[in-house]
Amino acid sequence: MVSDRIRKKITRYFTGENKIIFSNIIPSCDSLANKFAGINELGIYLHIPFCNRICPYCPYNKELFNETRCGDYVDAVIKEIDLYAPFLKDKPVTSFYIGGGTPTTMLGKGIEKIINHLYRHLNMNCSVHMESHPNHLTEDNIRLIKSLGVRYLSIGVEALQERHLKAIERPYTVEEVKKNVERAVAGNFDCVNIDLIFDLPGQTRQEIEQAANDIIKLGVHQVAAYPLFRFNYTRLGKDFQKESNALTTMFRRRSFIKSLEDIFYASDFKRSSVWAFTKDGVDKYCSVTVPLYIGLGASGSTYLNDIFYINTFRSDEYIKTLTEGKLPIALSVALTADMQMAGWLYWRIYETRFRKSDFSRRFNGNFEEKYGSLMKTFSMMGYLKNGNDQITLTDKGSYWIHAFEDFFSISYINKLWGTSFQNPWPEQVIL
Ligand SMILES: C[S@@+](CC[C@H](N)C(=O)[O-])C[C@H]1O[C@@H](n2cnc3c(N)ncnc32)[C@H](O)[C@@H]1O
Ligand code: SF4
Repeated sequence: MVSDRIRKKITRYFTGENKIIFSNIIPSCDSLANKFAGINELGIYLHIPFCNRICPYCPYNKELFNETRCGDYVDAVIKEIDLYAPFLKDKPVTSFYIGGGTPTTMLGKGIEKIINHLYRHLNMNCSVHMESHPNHLTEDNIRLIKSLGVRYLSIGVEALQERHLKAIERPYTVEEVKKNVERAVAGNFDCVNIDLIFDLPGQTRQEIEQAANDIIKLGVHQVAAYPLFRFNYTRLGKDFQKESNALTTMFRRRSFIKSLEDIFYASDFKRSSVWAFTKDGVDKYCSVTVPLYIGLGASGSTYLNDIFYINTFRSDEYIKTLTEGKLPIALSVALTADMQMAGWLYWRIYETRFRKSDFSRRFNGNFEEKYGSLMKTFSMMGYLKNGNDQITLTDKGSYWIHAFEDFFSISYINKLWGTSFQNPWPEQVIL
């Protein structure tokens, strides 16, 4: 297919490789000890795979909540932390993010035990960012969430018209979800983020404008707005495979994003990532904020300079492997210097602004030599502002990252995650 050929060309341009090969080569404890030795600070991502029901569009690693499985999962995550603890010693963990699935399914069911264990055994130097489901935000649960040290809370609202909530099978009404968001906002978190999905089937521009205005009125600090991505291994993705006019989708989405930009900028929000708008002066809610991180839990992924690896997706296999005293790593990829730099650039652009000097610090190299001409071209095309040290993505540039993500990352995720769902221990995945 033409799109596959273009993807290969882009991969080659940025990484020097024709393909990226994930294989079941598991790093030894000695090699991990060496990798950690050169790291000064890192982040932790904890994956909670449980949900009370499964949404038809959701690409993430999730399963229905089950009390017994949840108890075993808590014990397994604690074992995984204990396996990493000797590598970390007292290195500061400066970013901690709990995602899912739905982390709030585990409130009062062991998540507190995991968090306490982390704070007792590692040098946790940060507050907690956590995802939540709106239906879980009762007064009692908000108190519980705060008692865990969560200062940054995200709520999966997704839509604010009954017909769209129904179409994507979200189990609440507009009135209910607004009340729960208001309760969270009153909870005095440093940042309350709302997830919205736009370009839902049949959604009009007026509807997304109404949703954005309504959300702002609730007093939230941040809104992350994603177009509805179609993952071919989800129920909704399968239904949509026939409808594939990429060009009209691109133009339609451009108009939705333009509306969102106008509304948020007029209300004192600033773009804080390709997808998110944050109230001016608020510290943003986001996933792990430091470049290097450990991923705990089923499907957790870890990035340590020259290696990226992913845990098995299946929670039963994850639990079994840790019970045997082994790390639950399923797939890994060794990263060349070019691959590390390309990954670094992708994430910095995603955050919409970065410093060239950070590249020099991280890679001991010259940013201008490596990416200078590419940045000049992008700057001439109006995609970014190319300052002496600072690079800032423009709204036009953010839009093209949207399009790139849909074309590139989604295709990679479809393959990597799609395979990992089917097989807990794949031999190889070639991207
Ligand atoms: C793990 S969920 C959030 C927490 C919780 N599980 C919930 O659904 O409320 C993460 C977010 O990913 C986004 N998301 C999930 N599937 C998506 C898709 N196919 N396209 C775009 N966004 C999606 C939604 O905005 C969702 O809130
Ligand atoms: S969107 Fe959230 S609640 Fe729905 S299945 Fe995915 S993780 Fe679970």
